[in-house]
Amino acid sequence: MARAQQNFVCQSCGALSSKWSGRCEACSAWNSIVEEASGGIVPVLENRRGRRVKLMPLSGVEPDAPRIQSGIGEFDRVCGGGIVPGSALLVGGDPGIGKSTLLLQVTAALARRGCRAVYISGEESAAQIRLRARRMELSDAPVELGVETRLSNILATLEGGDTKAPAVIIVDSIQTVMTDAIDAAPGTVTQLRASTQELVRAAKRTGCAVIMVGHVTKDGQIAGPRVIEHMVDTVLYFEGDRGHQFRILRGVKNRFGPTDEIGVFEMTGAGLQQVENPSALFLAGRQEDVSGSAVFAGIEGTRPVLVEIQALVAPSSLGTPRRAVVGWDSGRLAMVLAVLDARCGLTLGASDVYLNVAGGLRISEPAADLAVAAALVSSFTGVPVRANSVVFGEISLSGEIRPVSQSEARLKEAAKLGFTRALTPAGITAKPAAISLDEVPLLARLVEDFQDQAESRNG
Ligand code: TYD
Ligand code: MG
Repeated sequence: MARAQQNFVCQSCGALSSKWSGRCEACSAWNSIVEEASGGIVPVLENRRGRRVKLMPLSGVEPDAPRIQSGIGEFDRVCGGGIVPGSALLVGGDPGIGKSTLLLQVTAALARRGCRAVYISGEESAAQIRLRARRMELSDAPVELGVETRLSNILATLEGGDTKAPAVIIVDSIQTVMTDAIDAAPGTVTQLRASTQELVRAAKRTGCAVIMVGHVTKDGQIAGPRVIEHMVDTVLYFEGDRGHQFRILRGVKNRFGPTDEIGVFEMTGAGLQQVENPSALFLAGRQEDVSGSAVFAGIEGTRPVLVEIQALVAPSSLGTPRRAVVGWDSGRLAMVLAVLDARCGLTLGASDVYLNVAGGLRISEPAADLAVAAALVSSFTGVPVRANSVVFGEISLSGEIRPVSQSEARLKEAAKLGFTRALTPAGITAKPAAISLDEVPLLARLVEDFQDQAESRNG
């Protein structure tokens, strides 16, 4: 009997199956399986016998990859210092977060610097884009604008033909690009993979950098850009809360630079503005002297950033108390709670715990442990964290506070923003004169300190 044809493709992870089901067995995504006549297979074009690969030593001098700089510093830095010619870049993010806005600004900036920049949109009409450009005062930039969804036409434009090939081409969005060569609806994983593959290949061949926009959606109708992340050189995520005006461009993969950089922007009526001093922005509007708040001195990429961590510990009426975290890892919160319980005798098992990183930033550094613990203990005891203090330090499972990297840079940023104290791990030698240190060797010490203060307050 012939093997059952696997015509159903998960739009979230690309797994194949022979029948439709509500949930993908491979990645557990719900409602993500779509029937594709091509069976998720991109046709194999190369069937010839191969030739021996030319092998070479690892040593040898290659010039540094040249970079095309847009002059938008926050964007260039996240790219690793500029766009590398011939590279493929994916900018992912939720719909409406501002990807098109950002890339139109980047295109305009490139064009103004004399770089041939082409913007192809498959989502908006030329009139819409022109209107937006006028609002953002970019109309005078010599951007070449096109409205197209057909892959072959985009490839032809990319190659340039008789004219000079562009230096950078933006494809907004990759989900709208389609090719007839494949029997699958636009936006499906198969179309997405085939289009990306062709665009990446053309980029390498011509030296024109391709920037693709990819929407991340959860409903399974449009394929997530995750399935193409491995094909491109650089993956940037544009994130933020639509309720906030801050937008963060984060590098998650970069073959030409570091990946831990972030670029901070603010969405205004006239497009995105770069935020050169994010700490001041993240701390704006912070109330001092309230319990449950601690300022974390963090490092994002090469830059120190101060953010407020807010915690609320409230008695729970639920059998399983609620744990809600925004901007931090919930597993890490569970660990901090466990250490507070087992090593410091502070049991929050009957309380709901809410944790929030103000301003919509997402923190992944373990150095935030101590700031989180301080915010939690502060909320629990009702005692505010000492005024004008920043906090950082990693908590080990034994309840010790471990040193973290770049403490001097963290403290310098704190001093620059007018802080005078820091709650830190023991053993910091280099610090700015304006900051005095409150060293905490053990988490239990911090908890006792707050409890003593709470007692003396209550008389
Ligand atoms: P857009 O770039 O179209 O998002 P995406 O391409 O990621 O889907 O941005 C959409 C939002 O940005 C829209 O809700 C309006 C807002 N916006 C501003 O606030 N100011 C502006 O100058 C622009 C162009 C957009
Ligand atoms: Mg868009």
